[in-house]
Amino acid sequence: MNLVVVSNRVSRGKPNEPMTGGLAAALLPIVEKSGAIWVGSSGRVRDGNQKEPFAEIEALGAGALAMLDLPAAHYGGYYEGFANSALWPALHSRADLIRASHEDYLSYREVNAFMARALLRFRKSDSAFWIQDYHFLALGAELRDLGVTEPIGFFLHTPWPARSVIGGVPHHRELIEAMLAYDLIGFQTEEDCENFLSYAQADLGLAVHDGVILSRHGRTRAAVFPIGIDPQQFAQLATKASTHPDVSRLRRSLNGEKLAIGVDRLDYSKGLINRIKAFDRMWTLHPSLARTVSLLQIATPSRGAIEAYGNLQSDVAKLVSDVNGVHGEVDWTPIRYLNKGYGQAVLAGLYRTAQVGVVTPLQDGMNLVAKEYVAAQNPVDPGVLVLSKFAGAANELDTALLVNPHDIDGMARIIAMALSMPLTERRMRWEAMMAKLRGHTIQQWFADFTDALRECQLDRDALAPVIAEPARWPLRSANNNAPRYH
Ligand code: UDP
Ligand code: G6P
Repeated sequence: MNLVVVSNRVSRGKPNEPMTGGLAAALLPIVEKSGAIWVGSSGRVRDGNQKEPFAEIEALGAGALAMLDLPAAHYGGYYEGFANSALWPALHSRADLIRASHEDYLSYREVNAFMARALLRFRKSDSAFWIQDYHFLALGAELRDLGVTEPIGFFLHTPWPARSVIGGVPHHRELIEAMLAYDLIGFQTEEDCENFLSYAQADLGLAVHDGVILSRHGRTRAAVFPIGIDPQQFAQLATKASTHPDVSRLRRSLNGEKLAIGVDRLDYSKGLINRIKAFDRMWTLHPSLARTVSLLQIATPSRGAIEAYGNLQSDVAKLVSDVNGVHGEVDWTPIRYLNKGYGQAVLAGLYRTAQVGVVTPLQDGMNLVAKEYVAAQNPVDPGVLVLSKFAGAANELDTALLVNPHDIDGMARIIAMALSMPLTERRMRWEAMMAKLRGHTIQQWFADFTDALRECQLDRDALAPVIAEPARWPLRSANNNAPRYH
């Protein structure tokens, strides 16, 4: 199988550079090892009607990376507009933040169509396409319109919300119908998958059986593939990082004080405001914890041109400054707040230095930081993960201290509990989490998805004669569960 992986964001695999988000972090080792070609945005735009899209191609381990200049006229409407101001808020159940014009939607469709045309150049006789994330919901349908018959899979890195929330996205019906051109749609959790299937059945009126949706495109299988990390590699990075100057300086600066760490993109889904309020509350409720524990919050700037993100950046900065003003001392700063990114080789050492990892998103597809924090711990003296029950990772890491990120008092209490947890309990919880991480590595995720995609192709070939007669599929009407035969 000649695999073509497609995403908006890519990584060039430069060892000391921070990863921009979990998607790029997860796909990099897969492309490097599998020999796939990874096609994405170069981050640059190009004017005019590109007959042959411009791509910069370079080697990436055993694979290759092709970075395309996207069309200048549509980039803003696609990226800042429809993808990140309509789909992202909806997918994270923030319908109140949905902002998108009809032009943004058209630009989104244009960029999907542009990407489909560009992909033809990478198509071979035994190609399979694997499209990633909400930037390209309609890419499969565009590829089919261009005559592509090879297997096309899709994986959503974010949550998929309840029907009523996705219904707040302009043109949701058209888009989700287009998604049914995929042979296989992968989700992070059962709940995401069920929400999607329930939309297909109730809103699109389609027949759904055992995770398979029948539509005018044929069969689409929806299934769950929780994304993983390489825990062994992270453990090695963390051990090596102990001598890194940033890590040594951090350790020296602590003077025996305990450390909690948070590492997030500056995104409203990450629950940063509530987290900082929880620390504020903890220092108020337990004054003895002042000077004995501080928070290192790395908040890497993200999507800064979008209003909601710009507002968040100033709100978080102000709150941090208020909390430091109230609880700080002449020689003690409660929250060390950094607006920059670190390469994973350093990050692993920072995770290992912290006795508590705080990962408290309001809503998150998976959250790889939670998994990385666990993998980076010292097995002899592991730290404690405080994890939101609304992160996909909570399904697997169920021996973390699970919190409700809307309950500030509850979080304050649980962070304090994490700080005083006895070693035997810390070890027991950590070992159970490590067993889960070892059982679901990133390479296993890749193998599971690509095997399932191959199976979909076999099913499709076997059913080709039936599918040639779409009039005989049982359909369900939107408001009536009785099967209809057209
Ligand atoms: N990351 C990084 N440097 C930083 C901050 C984060 O390399 O300074 C990486 C981190 O190691 C993780 C990814 O970015 O692999 C964040 O993924 P996650 O799933 O936690 O969140 P996302 O940003 O995708 O919503
Ligand atoms: C999340 C999304 C990814 C995205 C990443 C960083 O992980 O699921 O698709 O790449 O955030 O966001 P950005 O907009 O900078 O690519």
